[in-house]
Parts: sequence; structure tokens; C-alpha cells
Amino acid sequence: MTVAMRVMISSEEIQAKVKGLGEKINAHYAQSDKELVLIGLLRGSVIFMADLCRAIEKPHELDFMTVSSYGGGTTSSRDVKILKDLDGEIHGKDVLVVEDIIDSGNTLNKVIQMLQTRKPNSIELCTLVSKPSRREIDLEVKFLGFEVEDRFIVGYGLDYDQKYRHLPFIGEIGL
Ligand code: IMP
Ligand code: MG
Repeated sequence: MTVAMRVMISSEEIQAKVKGLGEKINAHYAQSDKELVLIGLLRGSVIFMADLCRAIEKPHELDFMTVSSYGGGTTSSRDVKILKDLDGEIHGKDVLVVEDIIDSGNTLNKVIQMLQTRKPNSIELCTLVSKPSRREIDLEVKFLGFEVEDRFIVGYGLDYDQKYRHLPFIGEIGL
């Protein structure tokens, strides 16, 4: 099957942005004496997280959680459940939640509520992509890569039906 693919954000643009985000994150946490932990939401964040963590100089832990959100298609489901919890404790630590894309904001809103109950020192959000026109919940994203129009995109971790995560660029598929 051949699928039409339009490159929206090139690999070079992504790499430059990740480097810039790393610099902002370095500056933000430079003065904190608390432990830093990056929390990636599986599976979409893994590619971004792998590059981002190497752009952060401050020593930090990596942890992951899986929450239910989208199914095989392109529609959102509102109920967010933990399918795989973190392996480590976050009490008293600086938590940076790393996500591929923020769409309605429902997923990250629920994740942050769940993480707040564990009493971290701080929680901030870093997402590679945001679709502001789709937002239902107002969330402060401290570290943001790209804002895009309301289009379904894939690549660099983002999937359609679990495929296309491996692409080094972000593209739009003709569905
Ligand atoms: P939200 O809860 O509506 O903000 O949805 C966030 C999640 O929806 C992301 O973590 C993605 O898994 C998925 N998602 C939203 N938009 C896209 C897209 O354009 N491509 C791939 N996944 C998307
Ligand atoms: Mg996701």
C-alpha cells in the first residue's frame, strides 16, 4: 500500500528545536538542588525523549508511564487510566513530563493531577508539538517545540495505528 506523505517538520528542524529546548531546560533547572526526573509517556514520547535527554546537561533520571488515551484511530477518548506506572518515586523531585503532542490537553491534565498527589517539588511540561486550536483544557506548557494546525501528523514518535513512529521527520499522511 502506498500512502501519500507530506513532510511538515523536517528532521533538521526537529534536531535544532530539541537542542534549543535542552538549553532552556538546562537554564531553568540550573539553580535547583533537587533531583530531576524526566517522565515520558509511552509510546509516543520515546524518540523525542531519547534526543531531548542528551541535550540536557544536568544529571537526571528517566522514567516512563503508559496511560490510555487514543485507540487505533484519530479520535480522542476522555477517560485516562494508568496502564503502566512509574518505576521510581517522584516525591520531592523536579518532574519534567515529556510528551509527543498536546491536542485537547485531556491526557496531560489527568497525568499532572495524578502526579501532583505524589508531592514532587515541581512539575513542568515539555511537549514537542501542540495543536492550540484543539485545546479543551488550558495547560501551561513551559517547554514547547512546535505549534501546528489541526492536522493529524505522524513520525518522530507519533503514530497512526502504531505505525510511522520511526520516521525522522514529522509528516502528514493522506488518510
Ligand atoms: P490529548 O489528550 O487530546 O491532548 O491527546 C494527546 C495524545 O493524542 C497524544 O499523546 C497522542 O498520542 C495523540 N495524538 C493527538 N494528536 C495526534 C496526531 O496528530 N498524531 C498522532 N497522535 C496524536
Ligand atoms: Mg501520546
